[in-house]
Amino acid sequence: MSIVALRWLDPPAGPAIELLDQTRLPVSETALTCTTVPSLVDAIRRLVVRGAPLLGIAGAYGVALAAARGDDVTAAAQALAQARPTAVNLGWGARRALGAYLRAAADPDQEVQRGAARAALREARSIADADEQACAQMAELGLALVPAGARILTHCNTGSLVTAGEGTAFGLVLAAHRAGLLTMCWIDETRPLLQGSRLTAYEAGRAGLPHKVLADSAAASLMAAGQVDLVVVGADRITADGSVANKVGTYGLAVLARHHQVPFVVVAPVSTIDFGTADGASIPIEQRPPEEITHLAGQRLAPAGSDAYNPAFDVTPPGLITAIVTESGVIQPVTRGNLRVLSPET
Ligand code: MRU
Repeated sequence: MSIVALRWLDPPAGPAIELLDQTRLPVSETALTCTTVPSLVDAIRRLVVRGAPLLGIAGAYGVALAAARGDDVTAAAQALAQARPTAVNLGWGARRALGAYLRAAADPDQEVQRGAARAALREARSIADADEQACAQMAELGLALVPAGARILTHCNTGSLVTAGEGTAFGLVLAAHRAGLLTMCWIDETRPLLQGSRLTAYEAGRAGLPHKVLADSAAASLMAAGQVDLVVVGADRITADGSVANKVGTYGLAVLARHHQVPFVVVAPVSTIDFGTADGASIPIEQRPPEEITHLAGQRLAPAGSDAYNPAFDVTPPGLITAIVTESGVIQPVTRGNLRVLSPET
């Protein structure tokens, strides 16, 4: 059974957004119900709900929640968009639902005006539906890049916990498994919050994939031993020049992949491409609390007084990326010109 990470609750249970609390996986499958936008913003910051495509969906449903409650919808969209800075989908989803709401609210027909909250909800649903379809299309297109018997290394978590479908990078791994092409899925544990060992291994186990978790720092020797045929990751933001912001550690993997001549593929929907940002250096990188490094599960690991450097993401330059797989096509080689084909303004 596929995982449902986010669900809209209509009255009488709602209006509310039910989230599968990802901070508690895999130990417990616990739902968290958000009945207000501030509670959803808090859930986003704590990574109860996370991953770029799902953040876009959460942002849109958050605006629908504010509209259904009669709250200030513009202020809600702004609060949601600012909850985390790097994943471009979050602000994009909130703005799409806000636009649908404002257009309906400004309509001369009073019936349409009265339906403005429903218009925001319809927009959120259509974003989720489109994301589900995008996952299927990316998996289908990406299969052409997977060799027979592939041993695929992935980082962070990119499956149905972070999309409305089967995932971005992980959706491709699943498709490879179903096509009989997958020998092994290597899962980086993904320090410091362990999205790989906690969440991707949970998804892989449920899907019956052959998989092994490794310490992030073991990826180098694994590649040197010739045990990796392909690296596949998702993205939080892709800039106009093809730079990719993704979970910290991705850039290191791309450098390793180049050194060992292993193809490095990014799988992400077009909604993750930010044509308004020129290059990787301009991407705002979220800095997370030092306790995520100095502590583990509430237990102090580093000596008291130790500070920490804790960027949540890093940026991989386009020259290290073999291909970017989107639902609208595969970009290879990754250049500004090739990417521009996907721009809504083209
Ligand atoms: O900090 P997180 O857990 O939200 O980071 C998520 C990632 O970096 C994912 O790899 C990315 O969003 C791609 S998701 C399909």
